[in-house]
Amino acid sequence: MAFIIAVDGPAASGKGTIASRLAAHYGLPMLDTGLLYRAVGVRLLAIGGDLDDAAAAEASARGLDLSELEKPEVRTRAAGEAASRVAVHPGVRSALFDLQRSFAGQDGGAVLDGRDIGTVIAPEAPAKLYVTASPEVRADRRWKQLTGQGEAVSFEEILADIRKRDERDGGRKDAPMAQAVDAILLDTSEMTISQAFDAALRIVETAR
Ligand code: C5P
Repeated sequence: MAFIIAVDGPAASGKGTIASRLAAHYGLPMLDTGLLYRAVGVRLLAIGGDLDDAAAAEASARGLDLSELEKPEVRTRAAGEAASRVAVHPGVRSALFDLQRSFAGQDGGAVLDGRDIGTVIAPEAPAKLYVTASPEVRADRRWKQLTGQGEAVSFEEILADIRKRDERDGGRKDAPMAQAVDAILLDTSEMTISQAFDAALRIVETAR
């Protein structure tokens, strides 16, 4: 079976860092699938579109060019919020499905991080992690990241964003954020990055 590592979990749980370190460790290509949804939201906003309009959001997803994932705008707070709003539309999710499937199916394997990798995109993945941390710890990490990028935002605003996003991502009908039954839970609240990576590596080594 292809060596697919699925890393799911809520915003700012540490899943992206863990996924990129695992990819570097095993020499595997990595896809941050959150960037796809972010880019769909950003390109829709750029044409003055409505994030809650399912048809417009789907058209935005179908017209996505992968070079758009490189734009700095996709990493902003507004892009995270827009991503979570367009991600509720089934047409958006299906428009992005094949791209993610073919990335996962590459010879030699791949690392994908997101919300539904272990449940929907690559349920056959031999190694699945569900990375989480308390909302306060996640808000603190995200706040440091965004203020480091120059965004003026308070910790409380970020905590509120995180709670709202958890609710929306976990509550949507199509492919909600969820721990796959065969995923291993990794709570990084009390861990440094290197402790979290070591724990993730042990889980993957046991699973492969
Ligand atoms: O991971 P990140 O915070 O960049 O993801 C942004 C948003 O994109 C999430 O809040 C979620 O709504 C959506 N997303 C998703 N499925 C994925 C990855 C991200 O619905 N596989």
